[in-house]
Amino acid sequence: MKAIKVGLLGLGTVGTGVVRIVEKHQEDLLSQVGSPIQIEKIAVKNLKKERSISVDSSVLTEDPWEVIRHPEIDVIVEVMGGINETKTYLLEALALGKHIITANKDLMALYGSEILAKALEHQCDVFYEASVAGGIPIIRTLIEGFSSDRITKIMGIVNGTTNYILSKMSRESASYEDVLKEAQQLGYAESDPTSDVEGLDAARKMAILSTLGFRTNVELKDVSVRGISSVSKEDITYAKQLGYEMKLLGIAECHDDGLSISVQPTMVKASHPIAAVGGVYNAVYVHGEAVGETMFYGAGAGELPTATSVVADLIAVIKNMKLGVTGLKAIVPYKEKKLRADERIFYKNFLLLQVDDKAGVLAQITQVFAEYEVSLDSVIQTPNAQQPGAEIMIVTHLANKASMDKVVKHFESMSVIRRIKSIYRVEG
Ligand code: HSE
Repeated sequence: MKAIKVGLLGLGTVGTGVVRIVEKHQEDLLSQVGSPIQIEKIAVKNLKKERSISVDSSVLTEDPWEVIRHPEIDVIVEVMGGINETKTYLLEALALGKHIITANKDLMALYGSEILAKALEHQCDVFYEASVAGGIPIIRTLIEGFSSDRITKIMGIVNGTTNYILSKMSRESASYEDVLKEAQQLGYAESDPTSDVEGLDAARKMAILSTLGFRTNVELKDVSVRGISSVSKEDITYAKQLGYEMKLLGIAECHDDGLSISVQPTMVKASHPIAAVGGVYNAVYVHGEAVGETMFYGAGAGELPTATSVVADLIAVIKNMKLGVTGLKAIVPYKEKKLRADERIFYKNFLLLQVDDKAGVLAQITQVFAEYEVSLDSVIQTPNAQQPGAEIMIVTHLANKASMDKVVKHFESMSVIRRIKSIYRVEG
């Protein structure tokens, strides 16, 4: 029986998992696709590197072009990461008629539409299940599972590093700096954690999910981003007192008048199922007009969970090859993009203000909310022995983003407000 030959770009954590799963599940794969799957060639950075799996040395090469231009390879699996050089490799592979599977969220968030256009031109498949939330099959769910519905909201904890940090801060009342340092020592956080902690990694994943969920070409610049580096231990304590958990949440909404997509530390009602997602785990909540609420939970990274998604894509590509239906039409976004104006983006807010402790201050503050038509849910003054003045916690009802920006600007000019200590979106 003729084997389907696959080329691998990269043999790091995910690549190693792919080799392991293809070897270990060979019989199951054969039953599902009707042909053996053979990893024909693997491009690595360093041939001499010690590896946790044994691979025949004739399979390895340091030249990615040897994999891409190999005449017998039909499918390229890209698990090497990187952006510009990797894009060149993949575009060339597509031009040669090879199908692509990639785990590369950075590449897909930035150049997904260019890669998909090239694939369409050459009637090739591009699948990228592993690019978002590792082992959770959320991309296939959005494309296929919800193909009959209209998705109105996607909320995701799609970055394990920041979820680990916030969960630990919450559980142990620890500071951001201490938990980050520990996460780096344990290898959960990168030595340069910027992309994770400043929300960029999550923003890329939300751009991918909202493109697929809303069938519109959402770009990274459409996602407003705020990371977790300013979240304090005190913020988390106050959030808990009010019945919320702090989570770095991607929130994408689709309404008749447009889309809004953001990533920010968010106070989530403790009773919402996404508030219970702790540690390095990921979860994606999807609301559809017809289906209502759904939620998907699992490992967001790691060798075997991520490789599971890659190999599932491999099975899908091979099935399409056998059916002669490769070519992607179903997942190229087809709806015109319209972003919602700030006046139409509504959510609740939490504010922590440090103010002068004297008569009339609260009245001045509530007057500003009234002026911009922001209605308040609760106002609590908290004693704070460590600081002069008083602290006031405020939770608003749903307010539009434009009005809240005006409130904050106004507060910044008021002498009785010594400092706006914190401001967070509130969900649930
Ligand atoms: N840096 C990512 C995370 C890894 O922390 O979730 C998976 O993309």
